[in-house]
Amino acid sequence: MLTGGSDRISPTAHYTGYVWVRNGLSHPALATGTGRLLYNALAPANAASARLGQPHLEHYLLARHEVIDHLLTAAIEHRHVSQVIEVAAGLSGRGLRFTRRFGDALTYIEADLPAMAERKRRMLGDTGERHPKHRVEDVDAMLDSGPGSLADLAATLDPAKGLAIITEGLVNYFDLTSVRAMWTRFATVLGGFPTGVYLSDIHLGSDNQSTVNKTAVAALSAFVRGRVHLHFTGPAETESALHEAGFGHATLRRPAEFAGTLPRCAGRSAQAVRVIEAAR
Ligand SMILES: C[S@@+](CC[C@H](N)C(=O)[O-])C[C@H]1O[C@@H](n2cnc3c(N)ncnc32)[C@H](O)[C@@H]1O
Repeated sequence: MLTGGSDRISPTAHYTGYVWVRNGLSHPALATGTGRLLYNALAPANAASARLGQPHLEHYLLARHEVIDHLLTAAIEHRHVSQVIEVAAGLSGRGLRFTRRFGDALTYIEADLPAMAERKRRMLGDTGERHPKHRVEDVDAMLDSGPGSLADLAATLDPAKGLAIITEGLVNYFDLTSVRAMWTRFATVLGGFPTGVYLSDIHLGSDNQSTVNKTAVAALSAFVRGRVHLHFTGPAETESALHEAGFGHATLRRPAEFAGTLPRCAGRSAQAVRVIEAAR
């Protein structure tokens, strides 16, 4: 039995995986039939939301993805990060894109629950372009230690090189206790490296006051057939929780901050989500 409703979350990876492919952020071999079906099923509702000035699910997914890419690039280029663990990577194309770009200078590990990890391994093989330093491992983010834990995986990395941990599309599906425990685990693992950076998207209660953002969260909840947790009322509360988990620095970024530089960060949909940038 998986903790925190993990089994409920997995199908959403097919949808987001399809969105990344459709928008040129992934390889066509990482698209699935389920992803295409979900995409087509949600397209009319997305178009209707956009007509009403509400957030468009695809657009805010793209905004969060682009900001995480941007912050990860900065961490690699300016903060000595040369190892990445993308927890709950699903069918994301980020590992492929970053290893294409940084080559031998980067070790990129995609981590997910065993069934998804196995599928991703096969699909990456089908792309015919997986870099030798790019691999997929079985990790359950809810485990403290032992086989399948992040701690065990991190012990295989080079402790003299910086590490970034990423979660995208994960945090709001877990309850507050699970999220705090997960962040504490991440901070502990990152403490074993000279530079430790954590990047993630998050939806906040304070952003959910407007009809626009209520619609975004309602769409997510319907999508996973269950509750989306809005753990924190605002950025300050989220930042303190990250400090309590063991991060020395924590900032919440709004995609709109990057509207002048990142093409997918303009517009209302980009206001529906924040991005955590935290460091040990
Ligand atoms: C919404 S998808 C996001 C996938 C990817 N990050 C993206 O943005 O396209 C959620 C992912 O979380 C994974 N997941 C769910 N529970 C998990 C857990 N306890 N540990 C690791 N991964 C988990 C699912 O298998 C799925 O791939």
